[in-house]
Amino acid sequence: MIIIGIETSCDETAVAVLEGTGDLSPSGLNLRSNIIASQVKLHRQFGGVVPEVASRKHVETIIPVIEKALDKAGVTLPDITAVSATYGPGLVGAVLVGLSAAKALAVALNIPFIGVNHIEAHMYANFLEHPHLRPPFVCLVVSGGHSDLIYLRDYGDYEVLGRTRDDAAGEAFDKVARALGLDYPGGPAIDEVSKGGNPSAVRFPRAFLEAGSYDFSFSGLKTSVVNYLAKAQSGGEEISVPDIAASFQEAVVDVLVDKTLKAASKKHTPIVALAGGVAANSRLRQELYLRAQERGVDVKYPSPILCTDNAAMVTCVGYFQLLLKGSSPLDLPASPSLSLE
Ligand code: KG4
Ligand code: ZN
Repeated sequence: MIIIGIETSCDETAVAVLEGTGDLSPSGLNLRSNIIASQVKLHRQFGGVVPEVASRKHVETIIPVIEKALDKAGVTLPDITAVSATYGPGLVGAVLVGLSAAKALAVALNIPFIGVNHIEAHMYANFLEHPHLRPPFVCLVVSGGHSDLIYLRDYGDYEVLGRTRDDAAGEAFDKVARALGLDYPGGPAIDEVSKGGNPSAVRFPRAFLEAGSYDFSFSGLKTSVVNYLAKAQSGGEEISVPDIAASFQEAVVDVLVDKTLKAASKKHTPIVALAGGVAANSRLRQELYLRAQERGVDVKYPSPILCTDNAAMVTCVGYFQLLLKGSSPLDLPASPSLSLE
């Protein structure tokens, strides 16, 4: 089976080609190409993603990126068995570009179309690089739009244990980075600058919420950093960007790791996985690994390039979904607030 996948839910125009044996097992998967045309430079001047600008750029880029992905995979259109695309959640105008391209390919080639949930796709990036990984496990999906703790009981069978009550983790990284005068996107900038900072310099608040809750809240932490900066500025105090960045990052990581490991213990699973753009964070990866090891829990995460938005993850869900549930209807609408349950 050769699946082509398309991802345009935010600011990356991405197309990938995946080859599979037709078995319900990640071990037979072979990612043949994974092309990502990033719009980061375009949106940097605005300090964040501008939806209309993103959609227009997807329209310009989608066909060349499809051609490049086919070329790199060494296949042509008649070789394709099925086409998958993200249909939500995401920016509706952006999602529509990739979704329409995928439906057009399905009709023109007379092959199945599979609509993919972007959050599910982030989780499935783990199967591409850990061929022996099997459900059940707990997965922390942390991106620009989501912070969800999910129990992946089986392929296609999920229980959302917790989610953010306000800002997503990536959103908090981006907003704090902006307050610190760092470049967009803020996550990678904070990750980098924190390497030269002291994570214990400032004890920012950790929102653990009520006992037993797996929900997250990052807006109080973000406000606390902003207030700290304003106070230092008005007092003429010199601030250390690396120290503040590292202290903020530590507060986020502390809560994420704590709740992920508690969820693993509640579900009696010895495996936890990370997914989404924030899963590329070096401190989160390191801290989760260390604290999980103390409890005998195994940690999986994808390479950074498969944590941030990509289409490889969309081909992976497309593959499993086609085998398990069959194709999606061609009138499947874009669903900007699609959830997992
Ligand atoms: O998954 P993603 O590419 O797009 C969404 O689905 O939202 O995630 C993007 C988010 C941004 O907020 C970005 O700042 C954050 O992931 N991010 C990071 C890192 N790399 C990307 N956050 C922390 N550390 C990183 N290294
Ligand atoms: Zn994403």
